[in-house]
Order: sequence, then C-alpha cells, then structure tokens
Amino acid sequence: MKLPVLNSPYSQINNLLYKSYLPKIINSAIETGLFDALSGKSLSLDEVAKELNSDAHITDALLQILVAIDFVKKQDDCYSLTVLSEEYLVSNSVVNQLRAVKMFSKGANPFDDLAQALRGNIRRFDSKLWVSEQTVLAMEQSAKAGEIQAAVSFVKSIPGFHEATKMCDFAGSTGYYSFALLQENTSLHSHVYDLPEICALARKLKYEEESCDRITYHDFDSSGIGSFGGGYDVFFISRFLYECRTDRSLLTFLKKVNNSMKPGGLFISSHISSSCANKESCLTLVIAELMTRSKGYPTYMLPVETLKEALNGAGFGEFTTPQPDEDIAFPVQLLSAKKVKDVE
Ligand SMILES: C[S@@+](CC[C@H](N)C(=O)[O-])C[C@H]1O[C@@H](n2cnc3c(N)ncnc32)[C@H](O)[C@@H]1O
Repeated sequence: MKLPVLNSPYSQINNLLYKSYLPKIINSAIETGLFDALSGKSLSLDEVAKELNSDAHITDALLQILVAIDFVKKQDDCYSLTVLSEEYLVSNSVVNQLRAVKMFSKGANPFDDLAQALRGNIRRFDSKLWVSEQTVLAMEQSAKAGEIQAAVSFVKSIPGFHEATKMCDFAGSTGYYSFALLQENTSLHSHVYDLPEICALARKLKYEEESCDRITYHDFDSSGIGSFGGGYDVFFISRFLYECRTDRSLLTFLKKVNNSMKPGGLFISSHISSSCANKESCLTLVIAELMTRSKGYPTYMLPVETLKEALNGAGFGEFTTPQPDEDIAFPVQLLSAKKVKDVE
C-alpha cells in the first residue's frame, strides 16, 4: 500500500468531534451529584465515589476530564471545584445553568433538520415557543449569568436614569430586567408589555418578588395595532428588535417608541452583537445564528449601525455604545440614546 502523504493534522477534526461529547458527560456529572458533592469541599477519589455511591474507576476517568476542562482542580490527590463550576454547576447557586446544560445533552438536536433547511424547506417560526413556564424560567436564569448584570451596570451609569420615574420594558417577559433596574432607582415604576400568556405567567410567578408593586404587566401583541402607553422617561428593550430589522418596520416601530417617550427620555437597548473579537465567542455566535435562521426566525443579531441609523431617523441622538462584554454567553451590544426631537 502506498501511504498518502498528509498535509494537515486530522487531530483538529478529531478533537472537535470528541468535544461534542462533553455536554452529556457534564450533565451526567450533574445528575450523579458530583458538583453538589464537591461544593465548598476538597475530597479524595474514594471520598467522591463514596459520597456519590459510584464506581471509583469510572469516577476517576470522569474527574480527569473535568480537570482537563477546568471545572475541577486536583491538589494533593484531592478534588475541588473551580470558581466556574461552583458558580454555574452547583444546584443551590442562584445563577446555576443546569437547565442550559441539560438542554444540550437531552432531547432533539436543533440541527436535525438543517439539511432540509439548506434545501429551502424551512419550518415556519412558532412564536408560541416563548409561551411556556419552562422557557420563561430558562430565559431568566440564563440572563442572570451576566447579561442582566451588564445591562444594570450600564444603565445606572447613564445620566438621567436615577431621576426617571416611569419606564417601559418592552417584550420584557416576566420583567426580570425591570426587577433588577428597580433596585437601582427606588422611585421608578416599570410597565412590562408582553404577550397575554407571558403576562399571565409573570403575574403567577412574580407576585411575591420584592418591588412587584412597582411593576405593571400589560397584555400586548405587537403584531396588532395596540398602544404601549406613554410618558416614559426610560424605554428599555432587550432581545426583541431582531424580528423587525429586515425592513422598514424597525423605523416605524422606533417612531412609535419616540411618541411614547418624554422629551429627553432615554432609549436603552440590549441585543446580541453582530461582531465580536474572541474567536470562540464568534463561533458560538455564528452557530446560534444558523440555529435561529433554520428554525424560521429571521436573525439573532442586530448590527449596531442598523439600529443607530433607524434611531437617527426616529428622532434619537446622543448615542452611547460600550464595547460588548464577551464574558457573557453571547456578546451583547448595549446602546443608549436620547429622544432629541418629536417625530411624526
Ligand atoms: C427573546 S425574548 C426576550 C425577553 C427579555 N426581553 C430578555 O431580553 O430576556 C422575546 C420576548 O418577546 C416577546 N414577544 C414575542 N412576540 C411578541 C409580540 N408579537 N408582541 C409582544 N411581545 C412579543 C416574547 O414573549 C418574549 O418575552
């Protein structure tokens, strides 16, 4: 046999294929209780296996993987959690992302129908996707892993925010951004507009949360002609404008927003950026975009220039656009603008 001469390292592909097993491995570690068992402790292999009632030989191999991906540290033959896994993989952490890990290791693969989508056989997007308690809770939990914190720290630095008394949280789901912003301004009242089914869930899930008396939920469907109130000092919108950016509807929508605001009011947007610096974040971003498009949703990104141009045409100016934070799940572009004139 004449062996072919190789010009590139196959390991580059093999490594990628093996990494694809990780979500199932991590989820099994979660389900077996490994992260909870190691939380705040340092245990030997035998102690871990005893605590989990697991096979020590297999547990040893699992721990080696978790060490290799920096979820677990090994020192003096004892294992402990890293800050990363203590924060996101322990069940009693308020920002745990166990639901997200499970989603990647159980159930259908979102790319099962990709070949069909590539042939143009694209599913119609089902907006009922948002409308379940599970989805709403999952969105809130994932937003707590940095996105809400980034938005709050940006918003509270904007001159004028602390004097605001009336805010709209458009398509705000159960109002988890509102609850966080109300903590920073105790005179603020937020009006959350979302689909009637979401508002019903919000009233059920949030009626005991601190400051809920300063939030009003309004049943609303933006595909109709209803109004979303007026006299706002702050108009906050997160992860909603993707739908309308492909045609003139973005400008039309932003003009309506302008009409609902007081002169000098603050428009604040938080949407996934269309660009990023870190190579790994870029890959995550483009995979999420393909998943979104193949599910029949137009896009998952909003280029900041597109938004600024539409805002300019809709009577807004004085933009602030901080560098997207790439430590959170997706690089999110925050933007603030001021209502500088009324528009028709
Ligand atoms: C991606 S989620 C964003 C939720 C929240 N703002 C956030 O950033 O996490 C999109 C939100 O838009 C709402 N939504 C979708 N279609 C809508 C419509 N036609 N009218 C009003 N709200 C809608 C959904 O119910 C959902 O809460």
